[in-house]
Amino acid sequence: MFGDGVRCLVVVGSQWGDEGKGKIVDVLASDADWIARYQGGANAGHTVRVGEDEFILHQVPSGVLYPGKRCVVGNGMVLDPVTFLKEIDELKARGHEVEDRILVSTRTQLVLAYHKLLDQAQEKSRGKGAIGTTGRGIGCAYEDKVARVGIRVGDLADPVRLRDLVEAGAARAQARLDGLGSDLTVDTDALYSELCKLAPRVLPMACDVGLALKKALDRGERVLLEGAQGAMLDVDHGTYPFVTSSNTTAGQAATGLGLGPTSLDAVLGVVKAYTTRVGAGPLPTELPEEEAARLRELGAEYGATTGRPRRTGWFDAVVVRYAGRLNGVTALAVSKLDVLDPLPEISLCVGYDCRGERLEEFPADLSLLAEVEPVYETMPGWNTPTSEARRLEDLPAGARAYLDRIAELAELPVRYVSVGTRRREILEIQ
Ligand code: GDP
Ligand code: IMO
Ligand code: MG
Repeated sequence: MFGDGVRCLVVVGSQWGDEGKGKIVDVLASDADWIARYQGGANAGHTVRVGEDEFILHQVPSGVLYPGKRCVVGNGMVLDPVTFLKEIDELKARGHEVEDRILVSTRTQLVLAYHKLLDQAQEKSRGKGAIGTTGRGIGCAYEDKVARVGIRVGDLADPVRLRDLVEAGAARAQARLDGLGSDLTVDTDALYSELCKLAPRVLPMACDVGLALKKALDRGERVLLEGAQGAMLDVDHGTYPFVTSSNTTAGQAATGLGLGPTSLDAVLGVVKAYTTRVGAGPLPTELPEEEAARLRELGAEYGATTGRPRRTGWFDAVVVRYAGRLNGVTALAVSKLDVLDPLPEISLCVGYDCRGERLEEFPADLSLLAEVEPVYETMPGWNTPTSEARRLEDLPAGARAYLDRIAELAELPVRYVSVGTRRREILEIQ
């Protein structure tokens, strides 16, 4: 995708997350100089396989496994500094020295211990209406950001001011925990001393990342922007309130790094060849449990962050066309095509029937969404392994017909097809 005038490429999830962004970003990162995350935090779990080694990246960008590539944590992320440093240490222990090539925005909001406690307590208090968050404190940290009471990376530089901010934040969080009837308690002193201890490691990484990226682009370097979650989890455009607390769509790639929107040259939308979702909320093409379990086992669909079984269903073209529009997607990467290899028949959702009408656009109203009946087209399976395919011509005719139909329904070209977890298990369609 790089080249042809593309120097700044955004990769976004175009379903409900876990589309295989980590694998695609890792593959594309071989041609990039910089890889930057711009939203979300440790709720993300991006799996990358290098040889026989598997890495699950949460806050460190997925291109980090190539030596020498520079990585960026954008201002639009919420960063848990404790688990971030742990992730860096674990990478080092596995032979990847990364600390000296990661930049963190001075403006990035911190996720602190009390955000995680609040996340737990809020979920508990929601009862049956629980969102099924990852419990990483994401929503609570974004709440503090928008309420203008958050603590940012740059605040680690001033211990006196930091103490005031931590005390105020802890007191607010404690009051909210008490209000929720929770018996969890915030340990202000432990939190403050932990932050003072980690500050000397985090601060050397801190800078104006927008400026660093702008200069890199001006020098002709290539920048890959790695989205987390997926369009249907976007706080504005997703299945609200069953969403995450950030804008997961491509517009945020600019804001979340301090770049102008005109810096973005192309957007690659990653979609699975079927659909999954982890956590609560609508999933129109969800299969009945027996069939869902079959797809779950075939695709090893268990959360990379929480280990939860993922809900599974057929490919939903209404969702992907909507995500294409929201993100300004220029091409699709279809992942996990190999998972469908053994299925005798494969269905695709081409629209929804609702209250006697055909819907072709994704509705905002959850009560309407609850009543939609997906309209399926069924295609014969190909019953042939696809993992060895490296060119479109290597794929069985049935798989090619399936990809053609996806492209037609999504109104987007398919540029990449991933047929396995390994780096080489991918086809690029020119
Ligand atoms: P992400 O959050 O979008 O990066 O996706 P996850 O890493 O959470 O989940 C995707 C899962 O599918 C991981 O276990 C990947 O190793 C795996 N995966 C990615 N691409 C492929 C593929 O083309 N085929 C198969 N079989 N597995 C894949
Ligand atoms: P990646 O980047 C799939 C889901 C959670 C929950 C909702 C809100 O790996 O694709 P949060 O903890 O963000 O407040 O949870 O969003 N969720 C994800 N689902 N992939 C992710 O990330 C997700 N990050 C959050 O399951 O339903
Ligand atoms: Mg994931």
